[in-house]
Amino acid sequence: MSASMPFSRIIGSGSFLPPNLVTNEALAADMATRQIETSDEWIAERTGIRQRYIADRGVKTSALATEAARRALADAGVDASEVDLIIVATSTADFVFPSTACIVQAGLGNKGAAAFDVQAVCSGFVYALTTADSFIRAGRAKCAVVIGAEVFSSILDWNDRGTCVLFGDGAGAVVLQASDTPGIIGAELHADGSQMNILTAAGNVAYGQVTGDPFLRMDGQAVFKQAVTVLDRSARSVTADAGLTMADVDWMIPHQANLRILTFLARKLDVPLEKVVVTVDQHANTSAASIPLALDVARRDGRIQSGQLVLLQGVGGGFTWGSVLVRM
Ligand code: ACO
Repeated sequence: MSASMPFSRIIGSGSFLPPNLVTNEALAADMATRQIETSDEWIAERTGIRQRYIADRGVKTSALATEAARRALADAGVDASEVDLIIVATSTADFVFPSTACIVQAGLGNKGAAAFDVQAVCSGFVYALTTADSFIRAGRAKCAVVIGAEVFSSILDWNDRGTCVLFGDGAGAVVLQASDTPGIIGAELHADGSQMNILTAAGNVAYGQVTGDPFLRMDGQAVFKQAVTVLDRSARSVTADAGLTMADVDWMIPHQANLRILTFLARKLDVPLEKVVVTVDQHANTSAASIPLALDVARRDGRIQSGQLVLLQGVGGGFTWGSVLVRM
């Protein structure tokens, strides 16, 4: 199989957002009841975020992930029984174990596929996609569902205005199939664990209790500078390794953390902002879900066309980052 089908190709995408839309105004009004001051103006000006979707309490990541996966399979015209690899990128797994991927597998009605989670925070989707591509290129899988899904609202300190306004919940998925033409033409993954403290949720469950801090903490300015630097460098190297330049890229889909990061990055790379898919205004930062969500939105609204070159870039806690170059 691997000799005749040495590549992997994205053949479908899907996404799902929980129904509860929370505008900046609604969030500010809610925070005001706890004597915490924020405004639509502050949030929109600093981040570009206008709204986010928040899952009801108790709704788990697997529920969002399963629906996004169903939609991706329907888009690809593939039955769940044909899938032999399921990878979920998430930092908000349903449980300590089993993995969210196994719960999604049961929800899809698939039996027998390999299923596991990948934990690389906001870089999780590019890590998971690169992993699935590597399985397929090695001949160890033929049809993968790769999902990014998060209920980040469950790890936010809703009394910390510096972080809680930035994030939202959601899920996105792609179906990746063995192919005799590429497909995924380049990928690189990186991490620098010495920078773990600039973005962290440093709690765990032990001996029946949560120990440490259960909430996300962030040094916003350090993350901002680091994100722009590593994404710029990685965009240049992944395209150069493929014998291409940024001028060959039709669409950039960087992790949707903040419109200012996207704007700075596009400027550094000399890419017009019109070539950058932006959904952070609509979804806020959905961590591992942000890239497949944005990809699905831009495929469905007709922006991303078959044959075009798309650069997917993740960056986040760890510190982690990576890029995947895809011919659609
Ligand atoms: N509403 C009103 N005021 C606020 C809010 C808020 N929601 N949050 C912070 N402030 C106040 C601060 O208290 C501070 O007030 P002070 O001057 O009286 O002390 C002031 O605004 C400035 O705060 P800074 O933290 O310095 O604001 P900054 O300009 O750095 O913007 C932000 C903060 C938006 C987080 C910025 O640092 C940033 O974009 N960082 C990138 C990080 C990011 O996007 N992370 C997402 C997760 S990481 C990832 O996904 C890769």
